Amino acid sequence: MNLRLAVFASGRGSNFQAILQAIAAQRLQAQVMVVLSNRAEAGVLQIAQVAQIPAVAIEEKRFTEFADYAHALLAQLTKHDVNFIALAGFMRKIPIEVVRQFRHRLVNIHPALLPSFGGKGMYGHRVHEAVLEYGCKVSGATVHFVDEEYDSGPPILQRCVPVLNDDTPETLAARVLAIEHQIYPEALQLFAENRIRVEGRRVKILEGNF
Ligand code: GRF
Repeated sequence: MNLRLAVFASGRGSNFQAILQAIAAQRLQAQVMVVLSNRAEAGVLQIAQVAQIPAVAIEEKRFTEFADYAHALLAQLTKHDVNFIALAGFMRKIPIEVVRQFRHRLVNIHPALLPSFGGKGMYGHRVHEAVLEYGCKVSGATVHFVDEEYDSGPPILQRCVPVLNDDTPETLAARVLAIEHQIYPEALQLFAENRIRVEGRRVKILEGNF
């Protein structure tokens, strides 16, 4: 599949940067057509500007009707000829119209091993604090499909990191983030190579070179 990506991000954009680096290094066959953010001051917009990739802030609070917000997102996706969406720290629920139009072509990365430590309100440092508080021995990252609920779509790739005795939420977050930067481009490349098959909740990764 020829991946024409939209990256949706609200923050610093390190996963977006990892995707760009993977494309530049030819580890990922894809093109980022547009970056959409729900915050006009998000760092990710600057990264896009430097990389000369169209970047647009669409702030939900500026729309009185949620449906108009959804249409504004869809209009950008059409305008930039997007066929696949990668969420990378996007802090708004994706409108149902977008989920439906991009079913199985809409993915997210979460900084824990889902279904643990996910769901509404589980983002940023809260995730790592909860992992440490529970006493887990491993954490990790999950690339998963997006469906109508928070963090509930089937996992595509997951990778573990150890939790160490003296970890703080910051040190654990950094270890997980390094893994995120590996598995997000890898997961996208599996789509580029048509190696993903979805059977119910099981996402099967086919062998390469077929
Ligand atoms: C990442 O930890 C990702 O797992 C989560 O949001 C964070 C985004 O970080 N969904 P960045 O903006 O890509 O640096």
